[in-house]
Amino acid sequence: MTVIGTGYLGATHAACMAELGFEVLGVDVDKRKIDSLSRGELPFHEPDLPELLRKHTASGRLRFTTSFEEAGAFGDVHFIAVGTPQRSGEHAADMTYVDAAVTSIARAICRDSLIVGKSTVPVGSARRLKALVAEEARPSVRVDFAWNPEFLREGFAVEDTLRPDRLVVGIDSDEADSVLRRVYENALSRKTPYISTDFETAELVKVAANAFLATKISFINAFAEVTETVGGDIRTLADAIGHDNRIGRRFLNAGIGFGGGCLPKDIRALQARVSELGLDSTMRFLNEVDEVNLRRRERVIHLVTEVLEENVEGAKIAILGTAFKPNSDDVRDSPALDVAGRLYSSGADVNVYDPKANANAAKRFPRLNYCGSLQEAVRGADIVLLLTEWDEFVGMTPAALGGLVNRRNLIDGRNVLDPDVWIGAGWTFQALGRKSAT
Ligand code: UGA
Repeated sequence: MTVIGTGYLGATHAACMAELGFEVLGVDVDKRKIDSLSRGELPFHEPDLPELLRKHTASGRLRFTTSFEEAGAFGDVHFIAVGTPQRSGEHAADMTYVDAAVTSIARAICRDSLIVGKSTVPVGSARRLKALVAEEARPSVRVDFAWNPEFLREGFAVEDTLRPDRLVVGIDSDEADSVLRRVYENALSRKTPYISTDFETAELVKVAANAFLATKISFINAFAEVTETVGGDIRTLADAIGHDNRIGRRFLNAGIGFGGGCLPKDIRALQARVSELGLDSTMRFLNEVDEVNLRRRERVIHLVTEVLEENVEGAKIAILGTAFKPNSDDVRDSPALDVAGRLYSSGADVNVYDPKANANAAKRFPRLNYCGSLQEAVRGADIVLLLTEWDEFVGMTPAALGGLVNRRNLIDGRNVLDPDVWIGAGWTFQALGRKSAT
């Protein structure tokens, strides 16, 4: 099989398909990426993936190329895993890369094959792309088409791909269905739900899942605004409602909100798409989800200003974490990095430390002071902000930090520290939606 697009999703899918026993060819137009992957070097951080990549590039079961001709001759099944970023200045998804990838592989295919879309796309794309394939492919070959959305999480990408909690395939032929069942049979336990449906439902399942997760986070963050105002503890509230199985505790962690390359852009693209369909008010609540989310960043900046008594300019601020979440080096739409950049723009002297994401963050905000350790970042700080909940930060103690900082001010932007411990040790402690002491 081939996997077209070797970014985060494609590289993971390619390595995992090799692990499941297939001969895999990864395809990308970016030669540098292909060279690096061919050497067995992963250009981003993801637990367990480097080992899989090295194992299968060494065995020869996983190879990489920039040639669509080679891909067309090689594969029986072609997965499309290129990105669909937010279109610049708009909310809609940019389909340029998907269209180009599908066109290129359709033209290069020289025997009966199946093209499987995995990218997150506006509903209606699969049907349009199938027609595109019919136009571009040689008349002598039969090319089936399917849509198979991806639900993997950064930080757990290998586990999620090898042991998915469900598989969803949009198909319009029995042949495509049986090929995909064979592809995934080794990844499916007898209990894994395998849902085969039409193209539109498959496309919508993906965006519905991400929209639901985003809504769940903003729901609890909206309640954090209330507990901040009336007094109360958002973690206890989340635990209490989470005991109800119908609600569930996961994705109810209040804090500085969601970021990354998926949730923010997907809720915006979904709104844009349903508006195009004439359903202007249907997904309007997602505007609120977005706004609640962005307000959390304002709240952190407000707290910093309050604790520093308006003296942000010239203050020394230590930011712990720049990745959009722990166990990732991804800073796309990272709430932590956004806050760091805004405090810098207000004239603060900003020290930053992230166990994995410093290099990516520095590409976006070169002017921050990037530090090699937690200790270096907090030395001389007037205030410390925990913004990404890496284990290293969750485990830090007042005793370890107390002697390094200039002033004992701490903001827990992820609600992972125990307020009593820090307040008891004489710190000014602020958290989002929880007990604070100044
Ligand atoms: C998300 C989905 O969870 C995946 O199922 C989906 O496949 C993926 O997008 C995608 O579309 O490719 P991911 O972007 O890796 O995965 O990150 P999440 O684990 O969903 O976290 C997203 C953001 O929400 C992070 O910034 C995280 O810190 C934040 N979050 C998460 C909270 O603020 N509170 C929570 O309770 C949970």
